[in-house]
Amino acid sequence: MALLLGLFTLITLAVHRRSELFLQNPALSPGVAPPVPAEPFAPAHGTDLQIHDPSILKVGEIYYSYSVGENIAIHQAPCLDGPWKRTMTVLDKESIIPKGDRQAPWAPMTIEVDGTFYCYYAVSFAGCRDSAIGVATSKSPGPGGWTDHGSIVQSGTGPGSANYPYNVSNAIDPCVFITDTGQGYLTWGSYWTGLWQVPLSKDLLSVATGEESDARHLAYEPRAIFPGRKKPTPLCGDPTGAHPVEGGFISYHAPYHYLWFSWGKCCKYDPDNLPAPGKEYQIRVGRSLSPRGPFVDRIGRDLVDGGGEVVYGSNRDVYAPGGEGVLTDDGKDILYYHYLNTTISYDFWEARLGYNPLEYIDGWPVAV
Ligand SMILES: *[C@@H]1O[C@H](CO)[C@@H](O)[C@H](O)[C@H]1NC(C)=O
Ligand SMILES: *[C@@H]1O[C@H](CO)[C@@H](O)[C@H](O)[C@H]1NC(C)=O
Repeated sequence: MALLLGLFTLITLAVHRRSELFLQNPALSPGVAPPVPAEPFAPAHGTDLQIHDPSILKVGEIYYSYSVGENIAIHQAPCLDGPWKRTMTVLDKESIIPKGDRQAPWAPMTIEVDGTFYCYYAVSFAGCRDSAIGVATSKSPGPGGWTDHGSIVQSGTGPGSANYPYNVSNAIDPCVFITDTGQGYLTWGSYWTGLWQVPLSKDLLSVATGEESDARHLAYEPRAIFPGRKKPTPLCGDPTGAHPVEGGFISYHAPYHYLWFSWGKCCKYDPDNLPAPGKEYQIRVGRSLSPRGPFVDRIGRDLVDGGGEVVYGSNRDVYAPGGEGVLTDDGKDILYYHYLNTTISYDFWEARLGYNPLEYIDGWPVAV
């Protein structure tokens, strides 16, 4: 830490020096680009699709995206670069779960199992853990024909919310991973105690009960990275401060399962008062031979102890990538996410869909 602080001071000093130099010698300043530091990340493939927390499926030759928005937005395109066309919504009215922002559910994830499409979504209010995860199903990936089955798990209030670990978590950002044998696992979580996972029942519409109801804690940031809300209430604001881990997604690339998550401040950026560099959204990962964890990073640190490899973060005109997922397209894995384009806007609704193909080096994914 002291070393880091020292480095920051040096960099700050260097920046000051340079501007002083520029002031003294105007010839140095205009037109002469300062040396560009080596970028740790490959450039993003950006698109025009305005989106938050994308979930992407390829069905036949068509790409479908599902995202935050009124009744859960669906877009479709002939390829990831677009053109993306809005094609109505998953739900035809508000979610049947009577809580949170039910008109515009959050962070949907759609999967296909045996010809049925399952769209898992969340209802909540920002900064509060009075939340729920629901599911809708359809025989086709596009709009029309979806049935809303309502809630699977709840936190804060509602059926089951007093049970562990719902009583210590925030039931948003669902991800469902299906094993070869058809067993589904629901991973969820945001802030508070981080990411959790429970097995689903056979129909994938409820949590398994009895012996199978074995919850696992998968990821957590033990440090409070930001101060908590000034006046926390029992369900809004964490009195211990903000532990920014959310947006879990599990992918598989033999022999490992990868748990991806978004770390750092997600939204509501004030361009004049941005979080300290590196504290904005970034995409991290850990791996495990089992879909149930424990997931660890390269140095073997468990993600529940604050571990995680940073696979993608702010670079060039890309700011705060997150809300990620992995699409396997023609046998190739692609990491997709939303990001802000610093030359356009820091506004929530201006986030765009971006992506990078993944390569695996020693079993660790690299965004290329
Ligand atoms: C950001 O926006 C600029 C200007 O519209 C564009 O030229 C650039 O390609 C964009 N970058 C990304 C990653 O979307
Ligand atoms: C959550 O539930 C567990 C099991 O019933 C209990 O031991 C724990 O104290 C509860 N935690 C909170 C914060 O309510």
